[in-house]
Amino acid sequence: MVALQRDASFERDVVVIGGCGHVGLPLAIAFADRGATVAVYDINPDAVAQVSSGVLPFDEPRAARFLLRAVSGRRLCATTDPGVVATAAHVIVVIGTPVDEHLNPDQQAITRALAGCARYLRDGQILILRSTVYPGVTALVEKMVARLGRSIEVAFCPERIAEGQAMTELFELPQIISARTEAAFERAGALFGLLTAGQVRMTPEEAELAKLFTNAWRYIKFATANQLYMIANDRGLDFERIRQGLMVDYPRAADLPGAGFAAGPCLLKDTMQLAAFNNNNFAIGHTAMAINEGLPLYLVDRLGRRYDLGSMAVGILGMAFKGGSDDTRSSLAYKLKGILTFVTDTVYCTDPHVTTDPTLLPLEDVVEKSDLLIIAAPHREYATLDTDKPVVDIWNIRGEGVRV
Ligand SMILES: NC(=O)c1ccc[n+]([C@@H]2O[C@H](COP(=O)([O-])OP(=O)(O)OC[C@H]3O[C@@H](n4cnc5c(N)ncnc54)[C@H](O)[C@@H]3O)[C@@H](O)[C@H]2O)c1
Repeated sequence: MVALQRDASFERDVVVIGGCGHVGLPLAIAFADRGATVAVYDINPDAVAQVSSGVLPFDEPRAARFLLRAVSGRRLCATTDPGVVATAAHVIVVIGTPVDEHLNPDQQAITRALAGCARYLRDGQILILRSTVYPGVTALVEKMVARLGRSIEVAFCPERIAEGQAMTELFELPQIISARTEAAFERAGALFGLLTAGQVRMTPEEAELAKLFTNAWRYIKFATANQLYMIANDRGLDFERIRQGLMVDYPRAADLPGAGFAAGPCLLKDTMQLAAFNNNNFAIGHTAMAINEGLPLYLVDRLGRRYDLGSMAVGILGMAFKGGSDDTRSSLAYKLKGILTFVTDTVYCTDPHVTTDPTLLPLEDVVEKSDLLIIAAPHREYATLDTDKPVVDIWNIRGEGVRV
């Protein structure tokens, strides 16, 4: 770990714009834990109030302890006042960059957010983009900064952690650093050197694609597994038995994932950002979307052949987008709920982690009221659930096979 060169003309080391979010907050906490003075700027007043009092607004394993230590040690504060942007030598932007309802990226999201605090940007700062951006956004921000007429370096250093593993991965994953000047490389490198020794240098254009390629690749891998699952299942065969068998002592196939809902706020939208960037010429990305987004429809269709769904109550176990998470953003469990609401008598939903959906019921109630249970998020709690009701488990967390 290297020490950060303090700049006496700034009150603190780092400000994180969008710093109460799933990526911004763990990052802010990590820097504070490594001795930096950090301010979080966010437009969400509820989240800012929680963070200010040392409370995490969402689940992130091990982060609560770090946050409390940083806030009580006065190394981290949170505010809705954009004026805080002027106080730090390093300004990191990590706001959300979703696609819209037509799957179009919003190329102006970052510059729009920055416009709200542009008057607080000062000579001598480095502006580090950390959101996953549409290719070309770094150059757009560089132009915006140039128009301000101030001496501010720009770098793009994409976040690569997975939610739920932030407090480990921030300190272990190599950091991609991209910039155009040696000075910007060195400043961004020194800052991230507080967290991790491994660093990879790229141009901004390379780094923008590197991040999108990473997520698209992962999304396509999940789609491949899901398609293979459907092929096996349609023939009455258990995909998981085949997958486990073919991987035995065969490293070339060790990265074949199991079947399951591939959802959440990143993989689909980043695959679609890449598609838009390539003039919608991304057949494999679009096919991956059709397969992954089609899996809930496939499951209900298969179940409809076996059960009289119209007369049944169905329970959905797990509403988060992945196991162990409380995050429901772009969760396919909700798509499944919509489909089942149309074709069944009643749908009940439960999730031990999700706190944002008042319609959820306790697990025992859902199990008791339902004729059929479907695991939609593979929370560990369901692996050992004791019930005589049929349980659909395409993740195989119960070890009872994945045939539907
Ligand atoms: N979630 C992940 O696992 C993950 C992993 C790697 C990269 N990313 C990328 O990181 C970025 C952020 O994702 P996230 O999941 O943290 O999103 P998020 O929605 O959880 O957090 C974004 C935060 O930005 C705040 N915000 C929005 N507009 C703002 C503005 N104008 N000024 C100040 N604050 C503002 C929001 O209130 C929110 O707290 C995205 O580009 C995403 O693709 C996410």
